[in-house]
Amino acid sequence: MKIFLDTANLDEIRKAIGYGFIDGVTTNPSLVKKEGISYERRIKEICEIVEGPISAECITEGTDDLIQESRVISKWARNVVVKIPMTWSGLKATKVLSVDGIKVNMTLCFSVTQALFAAKAGAFFISPFIGRIDDMGENGLKVLSDIVQTYKNYSFKTQVLTASVRHVGHVIDACTIGADIVTLPFSVYEKLISHPLTDKGLEIFRNDSLKIPKK
Ligand code: G3P
Repeated sequence: MKIFLDTANLDEIRKAIGYGFIDGVTTNPSLVKKEGISYERRIKEICEIVEGPISAECITEGTDDLIQESRVISKWARNVVVKIPMTWSGLKATKVLSVDGIKVNMTLCFSVTQALFAAKAGAFFISPFIGRIDDMGENGLKVLSDIVQTYKNYSFKTQVLTASVRHVGHVIDACTIGADIVTLPFSVYEKLISHPLTDKGLEIFRNDSLKIPKK
C-alpha cells in the first residue's frame, strides 16, 4: 500500500518526508490555488523533493488540447504523472498518451464503469473520489471495492489510487479492500499512527521506568 500526500503545500510535504513515509504526491487546481504560486513552478518544486510520482492536472478540454498540454506537463520533471479528467475526450487522450509512455492519472472517477474505461485506455492510475461519493449519500468504499475487484477479474495493470479521503476510517477500509494507493490530506496523514492507548501506555511505561532501581 503506497501512501501519497494530497497537497500542494511544501511545508506539509517536507514534514511528511521528515517522518520518512511518503511515496508520492497528488495535486489539483484547487490545492495549488491555495498556494498563490504558478502550477508549473510548484510542481517542479515538489518533484525536486519527492522521489515518487507527482500528479499534475491538465486544465484544457478536448482530446487534442489535453494531449498537447500533457506532453508539456510530462516534461516538467521525470516523475510527473499527468492528471486527466474522466470524460470521453480524456479517455481518448489517455489512450494516445499511454501508448507514447506518458503516465496518466485519470481523475474525477465516481463509478466502476468509468474505472473500467480508464483501464482499457491504459491509465497508469485511476482516482476514485470516495469522499465525494459519500457526500452524495452513496457508498464510496463500495465503489472502491468494486473497482479493485473488477481490475483483479481482468488483470488490469492500472493502479487504484484512493482519493478524496476524509478520515482514518477511509484509509483502513482502502487497505483492507486492497487499493494500491491512498492519497491523503496532511491532517489525515498525521492521524494515521495516533492512538490514545499508545500515548497512555507510553506515559505509564515512562513513569514506571523512573521507579526502577538503577543497580
Ligand atoms: O486530489 C483529488 C481529491 O483527493 C480531492 O479531494 O477532499 O477535494 O474531495 P476532496
